Amino acid sequence: MKTVRAIRELRAELDPSRRVGLVPTMGAFHAGHLSLFRAARAECDVVVVSLFVNPTQFGAGEDLDRYPRSEEGDARLAEEAGVDVLFAPTVAELYPDGFGTWVDVEETGAEGAARPEHFRGVATICLKLFNIVRPDLAYFGQKDARQAAVLRRMIRDLDLELELRVLPTVRDADGLALSSRNAYLSQEEHDRALALPRALEAGRSAHLRGSDPVEAAKAALNGLEPDYVELVD
Ligand code: PAF
Repeated sequence: MKTVRAIRELRAELDPSRRVGLVPTMGAFHAGHLSLFRAARAECDVVVVSLFVNPTQFGAGEDLDRYPRSEEGDARLAEEAGVDVLFAPTVAELYPDGFGTWVDVEETGAEGAARPEHFRGVATICLKLFNIVRPDLAYFGQKDARQAAVLRRMIRDLDLELELRVLPTVRDADGLALSSRNAYLSQEEHDRALALPRALEAGRSAHLRGSDPVEAAKAALNGLEPDYVELVD
């Protein structure tokens, strides 16, 4: 596996006649990332993983400074999963002085309302990565459901020539979705967070019974106060 930091170097590395898969990430790899790497490995000639903690998708007061960073361990895991190229640019490489062009996707739902500017940062960095890597396929996790929907809309609206693959959420043995940010949780917080998968399950069962899934999910939250509970297609 080769690690590259410059856009020029990455472009020189890639052969446009081959089927390229891109997995955009912010690092701190867990089994959810590895499932994306393996899926890309199975259907692409060349697998590129980007590792970039994208500052523009963090709001004021969010965790940009303490977001888990572990490039050495990540590189080892990516190599073991068969990744060909790890693209780990600096902030200045992707946002040079004077940067001022943004992608604003409409309809970002309750999550967009709770995190103003988050999806503008996500869409902008993903479009940049798609332009830099020119992948045939790009891989994301269903855990970030609204992100996947926003990117699907951007690909459609801007006529981008790539396919989106959205893979199932990977959960730990207790049922909590794996997330790099789970590293912040104490054991007690982890145990409390288990109300989230239970609430989702309660919502699903309520829907199957014909009752209100949002109310059922809220009732199963066991004192947790999420930013929103929303039913979307
Ligand atoms: O899902 C993530 O890790 C990030 O939002 C992404 C897609 C890599 C963009 O920075």
